[in-house]
Order: sequence, then C-alpha cells, then structure tokens
Amino acid sequence: MKNDVTVIGPLNVDILVRGEAPRELPVLTGWEGPAAVELAVAGSVGYTVQDMAKLGLAVSVSACVADDVFGSVILRKLRENGVGTDWVTSVKGASSGIGVYVLAFGSRKRPLFYQLPTHDPWPLRYDEHQVERMLNARLIHNGGFLHFLQMYESDIVGLFSKARARGLITSVDSQFPLHAMKPPWMEVMRRVLPSLDILFCNEHEARGLTAVEEAQGAARSLLDSGVRTVVIKQGEAGSEVFQQGWHHHEPAFRGGELVDSIGAGDAYDAGFLAALLETRPLHECARMGSICAGCSVTAAGGWAGMPDRKTVEGILSRR
Ligand SMILES: Nc1ncnc2c1ncn2[C@@H]1O[C@H](COP(=O)(O)OP(=O)(O)OP(=O)(O)O)[C@@H](O)[C@H]1O
Ligand SMILES: [Mg+2]
Repeated sequence: MKNDVTVIGPLNVDILVRGEAPRELPVLTGWEGPAAVELAVAGSVGYTVQDMAKLGLAVSVSACVADDVFGSVILRKLRENGVGTDWVTSVKGASSGIGVYVLAFGSRKRPLFYQLPTHDPWPLRYDEHQVERMLNARLIHNGGFLHFLQMYESDIVGLFSKARARGLITSVDSQFPLHAMKPPWMEVMRRVLPSLDILFCNEHEARGLTAVEEAQGAARSLLDSGVRTVVIKQGEAGSEVFQQGWHHHEPAFRGGELVDSIGAGDAYDAGFLAALLETRPLHECARMGSICAGCSVTAAGGWAGMPDRKTVEGILSRR
C-alpha cells in the first residue's frame, strides 16, 4: 500500500517533569517535592510522525530503537497512534535515547538532561527492496540530519536524490549537531541540499548552518545551495518562509494557555507538510504549521495538544 509520507529519523522517549522547585542551588540540592510526570515518544521525528497521523496522513517511519523497555514503549505508542513501524529496527543490547525535561524553574522548554542512544538513529544502509518500499510515498521527510556525525554519509543522501528524481516532495528538518562543530554546518549537507524541496530549521540553526547572522542572509545562502524553500522557525515570533526572490512572515498562533513548547517545531513541520501535500500555497502551509504548533504548546510534549484535521480546518476558517 502506498504511504502519504515516509519519515526517517531518531526516536527516543521524553520524560516531562512539570512543577515548581526552588531556584537557589543550595536549597534545591536538598529539596524534594511533587511534580506531574509524563512519558512521550519523541526524538527528531517521534512527535512529527504521530502528529502527521493525527492529521490523517498514512505515515511510516524508518528508525532504529533499542530492545530495552523504552524501545518497546516507543513501538507500542507509535502503533497505538497510527504510525507504521514495519521499518523500525530493534537493536539488541542497545540503550534508548532519553530526554528528561525538568520544567520547574520558569522555562517551558528547559532544562533538558539527555542520554544519547547507543545505537545508530536510523539504518546506515538500505537495500534495493527497502528503497523501493520507502519511495512508494508522496513525500519523504528526515528530521535530525545534523544530530549524528556517523549519518552524514549514510544512504539517506542517495535516497533523497532518487526521491526527487521520482517526483516525491522532499523535506529535512536539520536540527543541530549534538557534537562540537564549527559553522557553517551546511558543509556536511552539500550533497543533500540540492535534493530538498523544503529545509526547516530554527533561527539558531539557520545561523549555525550558514555562519550568517541574520535570517534573510542565512536563507539566501541556503537557497543558493539548491534548496527550493527554506522555513526558519522563530518560536513565539512565528516563522519565515523563503524562496528565491520571495518571502513570507507567518505570526505564531496560540491555541490556549502555554503548558510547554517541547515539540512545537515538530508539530509545525507536520502541519506545514500536510498542507503542502494538498498543494496549498506556501503561506497557507505556514499558517497550518503555526496552528498545529500553537495547539501543541497547550499540552505536555509535542503530541497531546496536537489538533486533528477537523479542528485545524475549523481554526483556519475562523481566521
Ligand atoms: N510559545 C509559543 N506559542 C505559540 N506558538 C509557538 C510557541 N513557541 C513556538 N511556537 C510555534 O512553533 C513553531 C516552532 O517553534 P520553534 O521556533 O521553537 O521551533 P524549533 O526550535 O524547531 O522547535 P523544536 O524544539 O520542537 O525543534 C514556531 O514557528 C511557532 O509557530
Ligand atoms: Mg527544531
């Protein structure tokens, strides 16, 4: 069966701790107190794939998970939430990636403590059959391209070039390197950038990718490398969409009271790409991204607050 979307990228669990704690270190180190604790399936693509499924898209993910308790939770939750997991490889003896957000000091996004996985985030190599299965879709998306050094020369580069040649929409949310790396990070993406219809990043990542300070200049540099559309996310300030000779600012949308902004970028990507699959104009894609992100910030993590298609259409028609 043909998927709407094939997604490649890391999966991990997020443990989300919400409460109030003293801000003075000597008091904090001796403190104990209650908090709301939740577990969510995350990673650079965990929220994105679940959000896409919530919007009614047929989506399958290619990734590796550990065969530990968190790996089983990831698989179970993805299936429950309508994501295809046939291409997820379970790695024997590995440990899962874990993010622990302690939202007890005012910020709705930090501090974050994390443990990196001991396995590759997704398969380094794909055989011909797997390539055919993955390209049997309308759109192919990768999140977290820059996170892991060992993936820069993986088969994903050739896969994206093939996808583009076959007429699939191609998109990457680069994220950022999880190791020390001097800008411009786009040097390690030179081979994949010309295959991309859409490159998503945030302002900090745009600067790191290009070593250009302001967003417009950074976007130009990325467009000159062959990307067709660059989307720069700016948190509460909204987002900017750039093509050669054209640009659009989309304000953020707030669907209710802010709980946390974890995974807002992933919800944005899902909404934007769902609209793009309906061949909507780019400013409407950005609006749909903003609406999805602005709803996701009203509940814990990047999925619980994600609206379904009907809710998004309702908000769109009222604006
Ligand atoms: N506090 C907020 N209120 C409303 N919308 C928000 C808020 N924070 C972020 N958004 C929306 O989410 C989008 C993406 O957020 P952000 O700029 O934080 O992306 P990101 O850094 O890629 O996020 P992530 O940490 O999920 O990767 C923004 O463009 C905006 O539309
Ligand atoms: Mg991001």
